[in-house]
Amino acid sequence: MLWGVGTSSYQVEGDIHDADWSDFEQTIAPQFQGAKEACGHYLHAQDDIRALRALGLNAYRFSVEWSRIEPAPGVTDQSALDHYRRMVVTAQECGIEPVVTLHHFTLPKWLAAEGGVLSPHFSDHFARFCTAVGTALDATWWVTINEPMVLAVMGHLLGEWAPGRRSATEASRVGRVLARSHLQAYEILHEADSARKVGVAKHLTPILAYRPHNLVDQVGSRLQHTFFNQRFYEWTKGGHDFLGVNFYARSYAKGLFAVCRSRPHEAVTQMGWVTDSADLATVLSWLKPLGLPVLITENGIATLDEDARSDYLKSHVRVLLEARAAGLSVAGYLHWTLWDNFEWREGWGPAFGLCPRPVPGQRFAWRPAARLLAELCATDGAALLGRSV
Ligand code: BGC
Repeated sequence: MLWGVGTSSYQVEGDIHDADWSDFEQTIAPQFQGAKEACGHYLHAQDDIRALRALGLNAYRFSVEWSRIEPAPGVTDQSALDHYRRMVVTAQECGIEPVVTLHHFTLPKWLAAEGGVLSPHFSDHFARFCTAVGTALDATWWVTINEPMVLAVMGHLLGEWAPGRRSATEASRVGRVLARSHLQAYEILHEADSARKVGVAKHLTPILAYRPHNLVDQVGSRLQHTFFNQRFYEWTKGGHDFLGVNFYARSYAKGLFAVCRSRPHEAVTQMGWVTDSADLATVLSWLKPLGLPVLITENGIATLDEDARSDYLKSHVRVLLEARAAGLSVAGYLHWTLWDNFEWREGWGPAFGLCPRPVPGQRFAWRPAARLLAELCATDGAALLGRSV
């Protein structure tokens, strides 16, 4: 089984100036100072990968930054492509399985100016980008798109992320375009090597009725579940070699369309989320009938309480291992995330990392959960079985 961590380019690399978020971050939360030099991962990628191996992990999910690779339409920056190719090779040489994400929320500015995902040329641009990266990088595991429905909702329905739009019909169109683009990328990546394992990282969350006995909330919970959790799989049938799952926490439907993350008096994380590993069991039960291996592509908690972080990791991995024992095919577990990183609208506040953000002279101050994850990797999970959480 794969045991590792995940990151995304914009959140950790530093000095990305040509992405839509490079401008957008200033409009929403200037108090969080923007991604800026982030965690310096672009400068130190090779050493960072070796550090993951030294810790004892066997997998690393990272994303390639489209705005670096294609700074202008149809123009490839070979040095950027080489950078990511070297990351893949270094990982493979030191015993880390690379899991490459093609699109993790950001777009090049030139594409955003053309209408972004809703540009009539989006699919062509994305296909060209996938061909360039898919040819240059010899990786087995690929995530085409990270959380397509989150991008649709946060960027096009709630307007809280780039491109800051608020339209239900637009959000639904974005979901469909990303589904078509995923299917296209699925084919392109397999043309280079049919043995590749290609999927999406799909955010899944049980959406409960906020007021359990309120009929409107109950209907809202069903409607939102269908749109947010299920539609993308319906639109992309036959286009997955594995089911990539980003799981964090539950949600609540308050009315037909509004969603919130907690009820009054519930204990919440720094993100305001209510966590319960039983919710992961629910999510896995939806996936079992689909008959594909599950790869947890993200799972983590924003907290400065290290006992809480370790407990979260243990309880969620335990649920995953129990599902595996009950017959679910499980390909791996990738924790989110390596360092406390630029958390989009929340900036540098939430601490999701197995380490704090690097400071000069220290890139990795491992928190206890990092050692725990390494122990799980060394024993393929056995270190946890029999232990009470
Ligand atoms: C995203 C990450 C983000 C994480 C925690 C996921 O929605 O893929 O980029 O940092 O959740 O909020």
